[in-house]
Amino acid sequence: MKEQGKVKQEARRILNRFGRKRGNLIPILQKVQGRLGYLPRQAMAEIARFLDIPEIDVYGVVTFYNQFRLNPPGKHSIRVCLGTACHMKGGYITLDAWKRRLHIDRGQATSDREFDLDTVACVGCCVLAPVTVVDDKPQGQVEPTKVDGILLSFKLEKEKR
Ligand code: FES
Repeated sequence: MKEQGKVKQEARRILNRFGRKRGNLIPILQKVQGRLGYLPRQAMAEIARFLDIPEIDVYGVVTFYNQFRLNPPGKHSIRVCLGTACHMKGGYITLDAWKRRLHIDRGQATSDREFDLDTVACVGCCVLAPVTVVDDKPQGQVEPTKVDGILLSFKLEKEKR
């Protein structure tokens, strides 16, 4: 309940900076997500009310563009490149490995909020394909065995803390 109130308050504060034009929907969504890390249902409802459009329209835009998140992000972001070069070098196999190891699908976060998983288009280092961007750092030749190695390094890092 407290969290919902905070979300509404934050969304309203951002909305006050915008005009009530439907054309402002995407910039509003970007700002709200930038602030909250994702787009909770209560925030989308506030936005719909503000712009005087149906909630389903807001939801439709959020689910259409993959820059928007419906779930809170994890502490570490895992982005599997599915650009042409990475796709040719087994990007989908890598994605499946991440899904299986983390027990989540793309667009989701693990239940402990340690990791979230998604895909990206080419990140510009195709010679390293298949690439996974881990916490904004592209890592090359990420095949299933390397997925295990990356996860192990996070685990060891966490144990050191
Ligand atoms: S296609 Fe993956 S880095 Fe270019």
